[in-house]
Amino acid sequence: MDVFEAINKRYSHKREFKDEPVPRETLKKIVQAGIQAPSGCNEQTTDFVIVDDPALIREIAAITERPFIKTAGAIIACIVNQRPVYRGLSFEVEDCSAAVENMLLSITALGYAAVWIEGNILVEGKPEKLNSLLKVPAPKYVRVLLPLGIPPEQGTQKEKKPFARRAWFNTYDG
Ligand SMILES: Cc1cc2nc3c(=O)[nH]c(=O)nc-3n(C[C@H](O)[C@H](O)[C@H](O)COP(=O)(O)O)c2cc1C
Repeated sequence: MDVFEAINKRYSHKREFKDEPVPRETLKKIVQAGIQAPSGCNEQTTDFVIVDDPALIREIAAITERPFIKTAGAIIACIVNQRPVYRGLSFEVEDCSAAVENMLLSITALGYAAVWIEGNILVEGKPEKLNSLLKVPAPKYVRVLLPLGIPPEQGTQKEKKPFARRAWFNTYDG
């Protein structure tokens, strides 16, 4: 699958997954794609915990309050580390997001599906619970979870606004 096909096929899978594990070699390939993402000053501030223990997957799903997540074959937890890397600026969210998109496209290209879970885990004491469960030392914390697995059927990406409403050549025309 070429990169444009993966971009078009990627969608947020928010339903149950098939009851099939994701092989560790596949998980390593996906996370390697995340590791190869660009990062501010190449500081590579994102770390990853790859969860394939079914009991841990269930505990994470309970924290997210999204029941479908307990059916994931694996969950990739993306851990950020806020520290200034250039003139006082920190880029940990951007670094993490670049890694996440690389992984989502790789997941799609390999025939799996996933969803970017962030809003569901940054509220109501959930960062502390996830840190404790995955043994992540503060001030590092889990910024994004990617539950992934085999979809029972292929889903579709949410509709996007047309090019002409979001992009222009040379000057802004919105
Ligand atoms: C920064 C960010 C945070 C997100 N957080 C969540 C989340 O917590 N829970 C969830 O179900 N989806 C989450 N999503 C997925 C979006 O709902 C989804 O990408 C959007 O509806 C567009 O659908 P598509 O991915 O199929 O194009 C998040 C996406 C992004 C980029």
